Amino acid sequence: MQVVNASQILPGMVLAEDVKTKSGQVIMDKGTVLNERLIARLDFYSISSITIESSEPSEPQVTEQPKAPDPEPQPSQQKFLEAGRASYSQKIQRSSKFRSFQVSYTRCVLNTKESFNQIKNGQYPGSSALLSSSLNVINEFHLNAMDLFDMLQNMRVVDDAIYAHCVNVACIVRVFGKWMKYDKERINLLTLAGLLHDIGKTMIPSSILDKQEKLTDAEYQICQMHTYYGYDLLKNLPVPKEVLSAAKSHHELCDGSGYPDHLKSDDIDDITLMVGVADIYDAMTAARSYRAPICPFTVIKHFEDAGLQKYRADILMTFLSHIAGTHLHNRVLLSDGSQATIMMLNEKKLSRPLVQFDDGKVLDLSYDRSLDIIQML
Ligand SMILES: [Fe+2]
Repeated sequence: MQVVNASQILPGMVLAEDVKTKSGQVIMDKGTVLNERLIARLDFYSISSITIESSEPSEPQVTEQPKAPDPEPQPSQQKFLEAGRASYSQKIQRSSKFRSFQVSYTRCVLNTKESFNQIKNGQYPGSSALLSSSLNVINEFHLNAMDLFDMLQNMRVVDDAIYAHCVNVACIVRVFGKWMKYDKERINLLTLAGLLHDIGKTMIPSSILDKQEKLTDAEYQICQMHTYYGYDLLKNLPVPKEVLSAAKSHHELCDGSGYPDHLKSDDIDDITLMVGVADIYDAMTAARSYRAPICPFTVIKHFEDAGLQKYRADILMTFLSHIAGTHLHNRVLLSDGSQATIMMLNEKKLSRPLVQFDDGKVLDLSYDRSLDIIQML
C-alpha cells in the first residue's frame, strides 16, 4: 500500500482503500482501477491523497499513443479535432489497452459463432463452457463498468454482427446484474441469457438482416420470427428455462406492445426484461460500419420517452441511473457545437444533466431545452 498525493495520481493505479469525502461519503470503492475520468472525479471532490495497492501503475487505460491507425473522425468530432485535441472516443481507440481488447474480443466473437453453430447442429457445449469461451474478454481485462462500456461502444464490427451483438449484450447484462445486486449464480444465468438471446437471428436471411434500407412489412415480420427460431433451437437442449424465455421473449414490453406473444409485465421474468433493455442499449450505442456510436444520453432519452409503462421501473431506473452515472464529469458536445462537462445528474430526467462550460457558466439542461448532448468527447 502506498499513499499518493493528488498531483501524482495516474491512470492504472488501483485503490487499496475506499475514497471518502470529508463528510464520510464513499465516492470510489477499494479495488477500483483509476482512469482519466475517475481521476477527474477525485479532483472534483478535492481529494488530496489516495491509498493505492502498488507503487507501479499498470498500463494506462486511456492514453494517446504516438502513431496508431486513426479511425476516420466523424463530422461532429471534426471541430474538436481541429482544435488540436483528440476526442474521448479517439483516445480510447488509440490506446494500447483498446487494441489488446480488440484482439481478445474478436476471439470471443469467433468462439460464439462456433458455439452457435454447434447448437444449430443439436449439440449444447454446456453453460460454463459457453460462458468461458465467449466471455474471456471480461475475465482477461478486469474492466470496471465504465471502461467496459467505453470499449464496447468503440468496437466497430463489420462482419459477424449477430455474434458481436450477443457478446456485447452478455457483457452488458453481466454488469447490469451486479447493479441489481444479483448473486453470482443469477448473474451467470443472466449472462448466458444475454449471450444466447439472438441466436434465432442466425436463421434469418442476410439479405434481410444486412439490408441498409427500411425493411418492408413482410421482411419485418420475417425478422421478428427470430424469437421463435431461437426458442426452437434451444428448447430440446439442457438450457435453463430463463435462457429459453429470454430467447423467445426479449422483445416483449410490459404494456403488451412487444412481440411475439404480446405478453404483459407479470408474464415476463426479470432476466428477459433486463436482456431486452441491454439489447436496445447495445443496438443503439455500438459503433457500426455506417455510423458512429449513438450518444448514451440520446439512448437514455429514448427510454425516458418510451415511458415507464413499457419497462419495469426498478429495472429501467437501475440501468439508466448507472449508465448516466458512468458519464459524470465526462466532457460532452452540445447541439450548438459548444463543449461542456457533466457536473450533476437530474434523478428525474437522467438524459438532461447539469453541465458546466469552460468559462464556469452552469446550465441545467432539464430546464433549458434548447440544447441537447449529442456526443461524448
Ligand atoms: Fe432480438
